[in-house]
Amino acid sequence: TAVAAVIPAAGRGVRLGPGAPKALRALNGTPMLIHAVRALAASRHVSLVIVVAPPDGAAEVKSLLDAHALPERTDFLVVPGGESRQESVRLGLDALPPEYGVVLVHDAARPLVPVDTVDAVVEAVRAGAPAVVPALPLADTVKEVAPAATAGDPEPVVATPERARLRAVQTPQGFDRATLLRAHETVTEDVTDDASMVEQLGLTVVAVPGHEEAFKVTRPLDLVLAEAVLARRRL
Ligand code: CTP
Ligand code: MG
Repeated sequence: TAVAAVIPAAGRGVRLGPGAPKALRALNGTPMLIHAVRALAASRHVSLVIVVAPPDGAAEVKSLLDAHALPERTDFLVVPGGESRQESVRLGLDALPPEYGVVLVHDAARPLVPVDTVDAVVEAVRAGAPAVVPALPLADTVKEVAPAATAGDPEPVVATPERARLRAVQTPQGFDRATLLRAHETVTEDVTDDASMVEQLGLTVVAVPGHEEAFKVTRPLDLVLAEAVLARRRL
C-alpha cells in the first residue's frame, strides 16, 4: 500500500529565538524544511509529501518546493497549518487522498533523519503494527518534579523512573491510515506526539531504533549541531 508523509512545519520556533518561522530557517544555506522534505522523499516507499506550512506561509512554501530539486517520483501538497502541532497534523490529514494506506508524520524540525530510519518505520507498519515510533535510549537520568511552592524556588523531585526502560521518541512516526485518522478524531486533549493518541485508543505502539541524527532542532545550540552534521556528511 502507498505511503504518504505529513510534515508539520507551521510552528514559530519560539525556543530557537527571534527570526523567521523555524522550518524556514537555513541550515548551510538551505531551509530546514527542504532538508526535511528531502529526507522523507529519499525513501523509495514515500510517494506523497504533504507539507503543513505556517498559516500565512503556504505560498512561500510552495515556491520553495518549486525552487529546490526534489525527486520526480514524489508528489507534493502544501496546506496551511494551525495553532498547535496537533491541529497542523490534522489539517495535513484532511488533505490526504484515499489511496494512501500508510501515513508517516515527521517534524520539519528533524531535518537530518537518515533514510534508513524512515524505511525501518515504514517496514514495521507494513509488517502489521498500527503505530511505530523511532526511539533511542536516554543518556541523562530523568526525574519527575512537582511544582515549586513559589515560582522560582527549587522544585521537589518526586520520582526517578528507571532509565533503562525509558526511550526518547523521534519522528517519523508511522501509522496505519485508519488508526491515525481515528486517533485524531477521538483524542481532543493536548498531546506532544501522534503515537500517544493511538495509545489512548488502547492500541499497542511499537518502537524501532531511532538515530542520533534525527534529533529535533529546538534551541540555538541545535543549529550548531545540525550544521556540523551536514558538514561531516559532505566529507
Ligand atoms: N508545528 C506545527 N504547527 C504548530 C506548532 C508546531 O506544524 N502550530 C510543527 C513545527 O513546525 C515542528 C514540529 O511541529 O516541525 C515540532 O514542533 P516544535 O519543535 O515544538 O516546533 P515549534 O513549535 O515551531 O517550536 P517552539 O515550540 O519552540 O515554538
Ligand atoms: Mg512547539
